[in-house]
Amino acid sequence: MIFLWMINRQIFRKKYNSSVKISENGLLIPNRLLREANLFHLMMPKNKWEIIANSLLLQKNEIMRIDILTIFPEMFESAFSHSMIKRAQEKGLAKICLHNIRDYSTDKHKSVDDYAFGGGAGMVMMIQPIESLILKLKAERTYDEIIYMTPDAKVWNQREANKLSLAENIIILCGHYKGVDQRVRDHYITREVSIGDYVLTGGELAAAIVVDSVLRLIPGVLSDETSALTDSHQDGLLSPPVYTRPANHNGWKVPEVLLSGNDKKINEWRENQSFEITRRVRPDLLDE
Ligand code: ADE
Repeated sequence: MIFLWMINRQIFRKKYNSSVKISENGLLIPNRLLREANLFHLMMPKNKWEIIANSLLLQKNEIMRIDILTIFPEMFESAFSHSMIKRAQEKGLAKICLHNIRDYSTDKHKSVDDYAFGGGAGMVMMIQPIESLILKLKAERTYDEIIYMTPDAKVWNQREANKLSLAENIIILCGHYKGVDQRVRDHYITREVSIGDYVLTGGELAAAIVVDSVLRLIPGVLSDETSALTDSHQDGLLSPPVYTRPANHNGWKVPEVLLSGNDKKINEWRENQSFEITRRVRPDLLDE
């Protein structure tokens, strides 16, 4: 079974990586590959199909818009003004709009939270300012998802990032205190996301992680567009080790095969390393 799966992987990598063409507008895939992609669907494990689906939809020309609803917009300033997320915005591939929920409170003290009905420690974020802001945004455009960041949700992973990278407009609501009034979740939220089984002070850091993992999948955001496809987790395995110059540092040598110039052997070595590292560090991934 594992043997078959590794063969599939090799076919997939070879075909997929060599067939993708990136243009200024996004990803262009020849029709031939679209037909083959359907065949792949039958033979590939589910997550591989999602990678293909991802690349197909990224042919879209629209820019991805992400509206973030928070009571601490300043928390995003540094995270979004560097490196990849900054480049995505400068190149016009993504637009991130920060909204301060407090600005939408009709309360004279601009309150955003109140005591929990039934008692208990911790405040609850009120419906009113969040609802006003969501309704305002929804009146302006259609949203694919309204996401609520919360520790009590399904845990985020690469597959979810692949899927979300297909969206055009997304709202991300960051929770605080004990969370938001359940009625916001029941009536406005379309998807809930946790970044792991631990509790953060608020959803802001979690939202920044989700945005980062999604934007780097948009063609043109990374300097080498295909590299996102060979990331750890993208094909269900961890990445192989990487080396750069010098080939020999105080007697610590780079594996010979990487200096051989033999692409076939190098690919085989990487495949084996990926598999071995995954088996050792994350055997659970091989069971999925
Ligand atoms: N808010 C607080 N903790 C969180 C988590 N683990 N994931 C997403 N949002 C959160």
